[in-house]
Amino acid sequence: MKLSVIGCGYLGAVHAAAMASLGHDVVGIDVDETKIALLANGETPFFEPGLDEILRDALASGRLRFSTDYAEIADADVHFIGVGTPQRRDGAGADLTYVDSAIQDILPHLKPGSLVAGKSTVPVGTAARLAEIVAPSGARLAWNPEFLREGFAVKDTIEPDRLVYGVADATRDEDTAILDAVYAKALAADTPRLVTDYATAELVKVAANSFLATKISFINAMAEIAEVTGADVTQLADAIGHDVRIGRRFLNAGVGFGGGCLPKDIRAFAARAEELGKGESVAFLKQVDEINLRRRQRVVDLVVDSFDGQPFDRRVAVLGLAFKPDSDDIRDSPALDVAVRLKGLGAEVVSYDPEAMETARRAHPQLTYAASLDEALRGAEAVVVVTEWKQFRALDPERTAELVDRPVVFDGRNILDPSAWRAAGWTYTGMGR
Ligand code: UGA
Repeated sequence: MKLSVIGCGYLGAVHAAAMASLGHDVVGIDVDETKIALLANGETPFFEPGLDEILRDALASGRLRFSTDYAEIADADVHFIGVGTPQRRDGAGADLTYVDSAIQDILPHLKPGSLVAGKSTVPVGTAARLAEIVAPSGARLAWNPEFLREGFAVKDTIEPDRLVYGVADATRDEDTAILDAVYAKALAADTPRLVTDYATAELVKVAANSFLATKISFINAMAEIAEVTGADVTQLADAIGHDVRIGRRFLNAGVGFGGGCLPKDIRAFAARAEELGKGESVAFLKQVDEINLRRRQRVVDLVVDSFDGQPFDRRVAVLGLAFKPDSDDIRDSPALDVAVRLKGLGAEVVSYDPEAMETARRAHPQLTYAASLDEALRGAEAVVVVTEWKQFRALDPERTAELVDRPVVFDGRNILDPSAWRAAGWTYTGMGR
């Protein structure tokens, strides 16, 4: 099929390359000329495992191209909208500027019978509004939310765990058939596919992210209780996780969730519910957000307490900047937040991350970035682990003790083995354990 993908950020760039790798003919569009030039050259503007390979293969096959010119989309059968919906500057709701302008920009180029398929995460009610704007062109609109995780984006796009199509009632069968043709390979592998209305499709996405955020904040709330009772939240998670109704995944306590999705999505959902007069239905999301943000401060407080309240000029190695491993994304990153807060208190913070140093440096040039993990550790009077990279999990406590000045470690992701670290002479503090 001939496809266009509007917006070549995390979602769009991966979607464009993945669709081309499945055999479709794809044009990726973005207003950012630098990003388009990079992608057209086979370079990824961000770190995502496996993306380089499929991008280069797809470009070489001739089935993928990138452009800043919207006229290039004219012969596409399906136009995927993958632009960002960040949090508004003036409130908790979603900023729909990019979605609205993407629709305006494609409008003159839509051929009758083509399908605009929204992938961006939007407040419920958006698709119905956009469908009316698209209708006079003779094209139609569907909402096809995306559930990819950063770090697994390629796999999640090519082998999704489910497909959701929100379509207009009147054209349900035609629109379903078009999207089925796009996702033929996944469907042949028995991927569950749900065909529904716009509102449900929009809500599926925010409900899923709200549930995941709630699960993480639930276990972090248990960590807070564990901290005052001497219980171990990791063992608690293992024990309740054996109940298949609960499940062990997303029950890792620590500095909490961040990234470009979970935090802004729960805030936007709460704001939308307020607009709908149903704020009370998701009022718990405010607590989910508060619990989450408290955990960042908790790590900072622990570090400050270890210096008897005087962190000024004390050298702290902050291991991790990305909001999660296998990513260079620092949007709303708990790790970066911890580094910035400690620096703000006068500590001599030295940060290290295997991938996110450049993105962090651009956003926070005032921080000190070590060239290597060893350099970050050398001379440290406290070590704070805030992103669960496998390099940090694999740290050898004995060797690490030789590098630092004071063997005090704060395991903000509960990834180190407390007994091994204590045996090597460390003062170990985890989150709720
Ligand atoms: C999230 C969802 O998991 C995806 O399904 C969704 O498609 C995506 O948002 C999106 O809306 O685009 P992602 O932002 O890549 O994906 O990150 P997650 O893997 O969900 O992790 C989010 C944060 O939670 C990270 O900071 C991670 O460290 C933290 N986390 C995760 C925990 O603190 N504890 C856990 O047990 C799991």
